[in-house]
Amino acid sequence: MMASIILPGLIDPHVHLRDPGQIHKEDFFTGTSAALAGGYTTVVDMPNNAEPIFSEKKLDEKISIARQKAVCDIGFNFGTLGDNFDQFSNVYDKVAGLKVYLNITTGGFIIDKKKLAEIYQAWESDKPIFLHAEDDVSDLVLSTLRSIPRRTHICHVSSQAELEFVMKAKDEGLPITCGVTPHHLFLNETEGDKLGAFGHMKPLLKPEKDRQFLWDHLDGFDIVESDHAPHTKQEKQSDNPPFGVPGLETTLPLILTAEAEGKLTRSQLLAKLHTNPAKLLGLQTDQTTKIEVDMSEYEINNEDLKAKCGWSPFAGRRVIGKVKKVILRGSTVYKNGSLAAEAGSGRIIQ
Ligand code: DOR
Ligand code: ZN
Repeated sequence: MMASIILPGLIDPHVHLRDPGQIHKEDFFTGTSAALAGGYTTVVDMPNNAEPIFSEKKLDEKISIARQKAVCDIGFNFGTLGDNFDQFSNVYDKVAGLKVYLNITTGGFIIDKKKLAEIYQAWESDKPIFLHAEDDVSDLVLSTLRSIPRRTHICHVSSQAELEFVMKAKDEGLPITCGVTPHHLFLNETEGDKLGAFGHMKPLLKPEKDRQFLWDHLDGFDIVESDHAPHTKQEKQSDNPPFGVPGLETTLPLILTAEAEGKLTRSQLLAKLHTNPAKLLGLQTDQTTKIEVDMSEYEINNEDLKAKCGWSPFAGRRVIGKVKKVILRGSTVYKNGSLAAEAGSGRIIQ
């Protein structure tokens, strides 16, 4: 049996914890418990709640719920459809960034594309704008960034064309980063089809050649972000299943398994799961926040998950790397499959 390794606490800048409004799918307690079980000590939650986070009031309500329930550190993105600019300056100090949807996804908070430039003008903060921007809107993003070069993070890049666009924008010197999800790295379209609705998310899974392109250009993307997007089994089995898959508990083992197979190096792993997300979010990290990971092999099982939805598109896979212990600022908050933290002990990051 292989020994354990120590890694810094992982940082995920892209999760949907559904609280408030859809706590039958997940809540701040179960979602941050899943984060710890997956080796994450900081997560950033997205604003597409049942009632989206478009006002300071809604944001404050959300933060106060998280204060009572979170067991890891958590930050929040603000949302916009381009008609709440009066709220922006009130929330700069309370958020991780601004999320803007240029393509359709769960909740349907897509903006009118004509408003993108106005939104960029109005967001007078150094905190990043997170874009859901698939291939069809690349030109719009590029021209907007050229005229208003605000810090931008392209979420869940999933294809060759999307990654090539980001690499080109970086070559031009534009202030852009991007993330790739574990499902786009470890599942292709054909495998997704076999999973049915349990393999449906936005962006959709891509053909094998796109998946391979991501692996062949590992240094073209900055972050592996889970896009943890839980929905219940029942919702997924319905006639109109919502997009999204959970990911907080499976990302690290999948990546460690790929590392063992020689697909990426430890320094690439640390960059994508810790250093680059810390940079994106402007977080100071410290030596007293770390995780211990048992490097023996096991099978991903739905029954073992802390996420409320209780399923994973990766169930049945054999992986290495199970989080044994999480230490947050010197305190053990998770050990051998059990939570050792009080609800509300996570910090709100701002
Ligand atoms: O698959 C997805 N699900 N993609 C998104 O962009 C949103 C997410 C959700 O909120 O369920
Ligand atoms: Zn998302």
